[in-house]
This record gives sequence, structure tokens and C-alpha cells, in this order.
Amino acid sequence: MKIILIAAVASNQVIGRDNQLIWKLSSDLKRFKNLTSGHFILMGRKTFESLGKPLPNRTHLIITRNPDFQAPEGHYCFSNLEEAFIFCNKLEVEKLFIIGGGEIYKQSLSFCDQLEITEVHTNPEGDTYFPTIPVQDWEEVERSDFPADEKNEFPYSFVTYEKKAKP
Ligand SMILES: NC(=O)c1ccc[n+]([C@@H]2O[C@H](COP(=O)([O-])OP(=O)(O)OC[C@H]3O[C@@H](n4cnc5c(N)ncnc54)[C@H](OP(=O)(O)O)[C@@H]3O)[C@@H](O)[C@H]2O)c1
Repeated sequence: MKIILIAAVASNQVIGRDNQLIWKLSSDLKRFKNLTSGHFILMGRKTFESLGKPLPNRTHLIITRNPDFQAPEGHYCFSNLEEAFIFCNKLEVEKLFIIGGGEIYKQSLSFCDQLEITEVHTNPEGDTYFPTIPVQDWEEVERSDFPADEKNEFPYSFVTYEKKAKP
């Protein structure tokens, strides 16, 4: 199974405020949809709540410490990341996308094989941060830069990192 983390991260590492996204970037939403559709997506309970309802055509795996939490039909909850990984391995899931938020990114970064980062070139105020990417472990393999326009309120870059092979 390939584990792919996908996140939109500001220049100051901010990723959210008040359990919401803090920018309007239509291209980023399209890329997120294109990459994750048809796949399993794993998230913390707060990110799941921020979605409002499950995203179409994706199986949601929700991490929570609340034993009473009920995932919507066709989706699943787990009390830690490891349980979710075991579940996906049993189902022979080909690709698992880690979609946030801050707590889950921090805990899962070392398990990931690939990072799909949208760098958002602004410095907003926020309350949730992306962890520092340990550059010694990751290689930037692709980058495309875009200016702001009427559908994207800040300049942004799509950047792909692959985990470096261990020597
Ligand atoms: N920019 C982006 O790409 C992006 C993507 C996603 C989210 N976000 C933003 O990130 C923010 C949410 O992130 P967050 O860090 O506050 O929350 P989060 O990571 O989405 O969820 C945190 C919750 O996950 C559960 N959890 C975390 N670690 C666990 C563990 N080891 N075992 C069991 N359960 C665990 C707990 O749920 P319980 O409290 O239920 O136990 C915890 O309260 C929002 O502002 C959202 O908009 C941004």
C-alpha cells in the first residue's frame, strides 16, 4: 500500500483556523478531488467534522479516541492510526491518502511514501500547523508554480515529495 499525504500549507506552515480552511483556491480543490477520488482517505475527527458530510466517491477512515463515535454507513472509524493501516492492508488498498488535519499529519508523516503539498504563498493567522518536513528524508521530485487569479486568491505551487530510499 502506498501512503500519500495531501495538504495545503501556507508559507508560515499554517493549515487552518477555527476548524476551517482559510483560503479560496479552486485549483487546489480540483487537484484534491482528482488525486483522491475513488480512494480511501484517512483523517482526524476534527477534519471529518469540518467536512460536514462525507466527500463523494471516497471511503472515509476517521481517527478518534471517542468509543461512541459512529462513522456514517460505508465509512469507518478507528482508535489509532495503526488500526487503520492494518484495516487497509487487509483490504489490499492500493493507495491511502492522509488528508489531515494538523494532529494526524504530525503523527503520520513518518509512515508516508509520498507528499502532495500545495504551498500557499501567504502568511495567514491560524491555529493549526503542518509539521516541518525533515528534508534529509524527502526529495522534491516535481514542482509547478501558479500566480493568483480570479479563482485562486494567493499564488501557489504544487509540490510532490518522495521518501528517500534508506542508505
Ligand atoms: N490545509 C489543509 O490541507 C488541511 C487539511 C485538513 C485539515 N485542515 C485543517 O486542520 C484543522 C484540523 O486539524 P486538527 O489538528 O485540529 O485536528 P485533526 O487532526 O483533524 O483531528 C484531531 C482529532 O483526531 C483524533 N486523534 C488524533 N490523534 C489521535 C490518536 N493518536 N488516536 C486516536 N484519535 C486521535 C482526536 O479525535 P477525538 O477528539 O474525537 O478523540 C483529535 O481530537 C482544521 O482547521 C482544518 O480546516 C487543513
